[in-house]
Amino acid sequence: MKKSLLSLTVVALSGLMTGNAFAEPSVDAYRAQLADKDANPGLIIIEEGGDYFKAKAGPKNVSLEKCDFGLGAGVLKGAYAQLPRYFKDTDRVEDLESRLVSCMVNLQGFKREEIIDRKKIFANQRKKQENTRLEAMAAYVAYQSDGMKIKPGSTHAKEKEAIALGEGLFWRRHGTMDFSCASCHSEDGKRVRLQPLVNAYNSHDIQATMTTWPTYRVSHNVVRNNQHRMWDCNWQMRLPDIEYGSDAAVALIAFLTKQAEGGTLNIPGMKR
Ligand code: HEC
Repeated sequence: MKKSLLSLTVVALSGLMTGNAFAEPSVDAYRAQLADKDANPGLIIIEEGGDYFKAKAGPKNVSLEKCDFGLGAGVLKGAYAQLPRYFKDTDRVEDLESRLVSCMVNLQGFKREEIIDRKKIFANQRKKQENTRLEAMAAYVAYQSDGMKIKPGSTHAKEKEAIALGEGLFWRRHGTMDFSCASCHSEDGKRVRLQPLVNAYNSHDIQATMTTWPTYRVSHNVVRNNQHRMWDCNWQMRLPDIEYGSDAAVALIAFLTKQAEGGTLNIPGMKR
């Protein structure tokens, strides 16, 4: 699709969506209600996640308490705030969820292919709305960084590479709709239906976004994490499913997290 035609489509989409009958104040009230953290059902999922994390599991029957998220084996406090980062043992940049998967494989003896089966991880996406252990554990680990500032790894060559790859993917138009992430997320004030679209180049916007994942998604009744959001937006672009924890998904998250550097984590978020 030509660039002009593409922007026309997006403008038409946003035009359609903005011209509706819903007044902004009612949306604000809805959002304010969602922001009451003590009432966030995600806290229950996080507690469950902690139980799963500490429980013995897998062929080796051990817990994940020795998992190293970058600050040393078993150190959870502040670890999520510094992800994604490069890990020597796996020789790759990992985000929260891909690191969790690595620990489930290396410590507990699970098979990677079994864990990252999307249907299992996202538990029937639209029908049976339940969190999987993996999602709940990810939320639990992330929660131990609540209130801390985002500072992902960005000095190691592979970290720089992941961030650059992520930005490249962000701008790359592909698929039958010829969308890039940038089509929807690189300008202020865009929206689809009632949802304002985050501009990844507006630091206030992207900080507000990245500091509130993992998040309780009201429309899903479960806690979702960044890997799920990448899958969801890829799906919105009508692309084939992006593999859970793949280099591509990690790179996108590395880029977005870098853009949000300095923002203060406020987890779990609560979103539509
Ligand atoms: C066709 C438009 C469109 C495209 C293309 C698109 N997204 Fe999205 N994105 C959305 C919508 C709609 C939402 C949900 C907004 C809401 O519910 O408030 C969203 C939400 C997000 C969020 C979470 C925002 C928040 O407030 O927490 C992130 C991060 C994101 N997208 C990243 C991406 C990335 C990365 C890509 C490319 C792989 C992408 N998006 C492609 C429409 C799009």
